Amino acid sequence: MNRFWCIPLLSLFLLSACEQFSKKEENGGQASEVENTYYTEKYRPQYHFSPEEKWMNDPNGLVYADGKYHLFYQYYPEDIVWGPMHWGHAVSADMHNWEHKPIALYPDEHGLIFSGSAVMDVTNTSGFGENGQIPMVAVFTYHLMEGEQNGRTDFQTQGIAYSLDGGDSWTKYEGNPVIPNTGIKDFRDPKVFWHEQSEKWIMVLVAGDHAQIFTSPDLKAWEYSSSFGKNQGAHGGVWECPDLFLLPVEGSDESQWVMTISINPGAPNGGSGTQYFLGDFDGERFVSEQEETLWLDYGTDNYAGVTYNSTPNNRRIFIGWMSNWEYARQTPTEVWRSAMTLPRTLSLVSTEQGVRMRQAPLAELDSLMTGKEVAIAEVPASEEQTVSFKGLQQSVVSLTASSDRFHVILSNEEGDQLIYKFNKKTGSVLVDRIQSGVTDFNTEFGNRQHFMPWVSSEGEVDVQLYMDQSSAEVFMNKGLGAMTSQVFPRSPYTGLTIKNLASTGAVSDIKIQEIGNVWRNPKISD
Ligand code: FRU
Repeated sequence: MNRFWCIPLLSLFLLSACEQFSKKEENGGQASEVENTYYTEKYRPQYHFSPEEKWMNDPNGLVYADGKYHLFYQYYPEDIVWGPMHWGHAVSADMHNWEHKPIALYPDEHGLIFSGSAVMDVTNTSGFGENGQIPMVAVFTYHLMEGEQNGRTDFQTQGIAYSLDGGDSWTKYEGNPVIPNTGIKDFRDPKVFWHEQSEKWIMVLVAGDHAQIFTSPDLKAWEYSSSFGKNQGAHGGVWECPDLFLLPVEGSDESQWVMTISINPGAPNGGSGTQYFLGDFDGERFVSEQEETLWLDYGTDNYAGVTYNSTPNNRRIFIGWMSNWEYARQTPTEVWRSAMTLPRTLSLVSTEQGVRMRQAPLAELDSLMTGKEVAIAEVPASEEQTVSFKGLQQSVVSLTASSDRFHVILSNEEGDQLIYKFNKKTGSVLVDRIQSGVTDFNTEFGNRQHFMPWVSSEGEVDVQLYMDQSSAEVFMNKGLGAMTSQVFPRSPYTGLTIKNLASTGAVSDIKIQEIGNVWRNPKISD
């Protein structure tokens, strides 16, 4: 029995549940009367990542190594609100079934461990490798609380640490910090990757209202190279958690560099959000001609997202933190707080408006389908239809529409409603969670509808809506539009209503497919 997930809970009730699991295992896994209570709290995501307990925010150190996707994350192990930051850690072979690992990085004399990234130093440029063991190197921000409290402006610096056992144990570099602070108050969230052409490590980090690029031969000595973005993009808040990567444009020989920047506040629907810039990067400088502001996700609950390093076949996989600093500390959960978005593969496509980002859940998710589903063949113009399905709260709802105005409504017996309003004429998709359930924990949560532009397409449009116990992720036109929202219905939604409000055109191929649980059987590793 992996004691890691039993002991820190320190509650008699859960300890006894853990013991009963042990008994069940000893019985050869025979079903017993003992109910598996692991990850069954109200609102506990069933196929998204959430920590076993306590507070989590940004994904950190996303790196693939030896058949495993590592997910480190901003973690405060003492409370369900933000506090002194550590890096939590989990691993997965398929990005859906996660195994929890011990805390990876603890605060030290240089400060708390804020967001950052991880790389596999395959050629041992850092010299941290031993006996042919490739070092996993974490690059993160140190946040020195005392410095901040004393009114200094140089309290954020960049540090590194390495692991020779697949991320289980870590050694901080004795030369830390590797990048000192020259008096920039917000100077953080380094994303590092290996740049083949220049044969150098590249770091992009944020410095308040812009990004800075540094280069290094060995992950220890860093040289400032260039800045980006002071006068470009959205600036309604501080820039955070940058990423920089090359993506092919589907169906062409072309590729473009993409810089993603999270911003808080200043997102299109309030609070925290992530914008992206398309451009070019030559190993030293990122340049973008883009004039309009592009948003990766129009929902209010996809923040601080970054992508994996070193994935097989260069899949560009993104994970975001499924919350918003407007209300993140008050969402109605007690044991843990916050989850990650579904992992998504990113790609670029040419549209009438120009090249745009597309995102889609991973094919690996298919293996979680339970096989339970219901279908409605068609809701003709000016008609509506309701279907009730027990598994709706944990499902994917999909449809295609030639209608240019329709609503998708999820409801429960309490009268809670989560409403999606699609309207091609006004060019909008609105998410209305105003009466979606529990909303009164913060005045910003349920006080307005959230807007996404209609993603243009010829003819039919397709929609996929991934529901988990406290989240809704909608993808439109095969992921050209995305909106991620937390939602806390008083009881699970079981009714799906499709209202076709157009006078011509149908909503068709409506399907609800139930998605299974990944958390019911904690991993037994001892
Ligand atoms: C983003 C962020 C980062 C910072 C971290 C601290 O949500 O504010 O900029 O490194 O959270 O937990």
